[in-house]
Amino acid sequence: MSEPSSSGRVVVLATRNAHKVVEMKRLLEPAGLAVEPLPDEIELPPEDGTTFADNALVKAQTAAAETGRPSIADDSGVEATALGGAPGVRSARFAGPSATDEQNLEKLVLEAPADSRLRYVCALAYVNPETGDERVFFGDCRGRLARVRAGSNGFGYDPVFIPDATGDNRTMAELTDAEKDAISHRGHAVRALTRWLRP
Ligand code: IMP
Repeated sequence: MSEPSSSGRVVVLATRNAHKVVEMKRLLEPAGLAVEPLPDEIELPPEDGTTFADNALVKAQTAAAETGRPSIADDSGVEATALGGAPGVRSARFAGPSATDEQNLEKLVLEAPADSRLRYVCALAYVNPETGDERVFFGDCRGRLARVRAGSNGFGYDPVFIPDATGDNRTMAELTDAEKDAISHRGHAVRALTRWLRP
């Protein structure tokens, strides 16, 4: 059986979010893509774009320009139907510029009704300075807001996000890593990237 051509490739991951590093490595390494951390001296631009794609692309472009290596970046967040799609691109700063995950989650629970519709979105940008390729891949994951928080896996809004795909009442934070990866917005976006990287 032949190896996929993505085997042996290395990408720089343009993020300072430790949770995303863990999830990205888990998703990319089995597909033959080794992940290199962003060098400490590289400063990422502020995430002030109006779309997930804009924010992901500018981070990947910065990393690619500074390192000269193929680079990827994810911008992601949660959209609440009851809040007109908020917090969306502002998910990391929903409760303020330096808000913690806990403060952001608390604000979502206060403002959106239990059982109301949620959607996680991930835009994953790939920039290769050697070939000039610039692509953005998307993934989403639909679900609803839990009445009470549950679980300690994952990060961010996971303890109050009940994904539809499992067909039960567990939150994302109660799933195993493998269960989350199979249905998550980030999992879908990474699989779109690795499919495209194959010949
Ligand atoms: P950013 O992509 O760095 O702007 O941050 C995205 C924010 O969205 C995170 O800080 C989390 O609050 C939230 N988020 C993105 N992906 C996930 C996820 O898989 N689980 C829980 N929260 C997430």
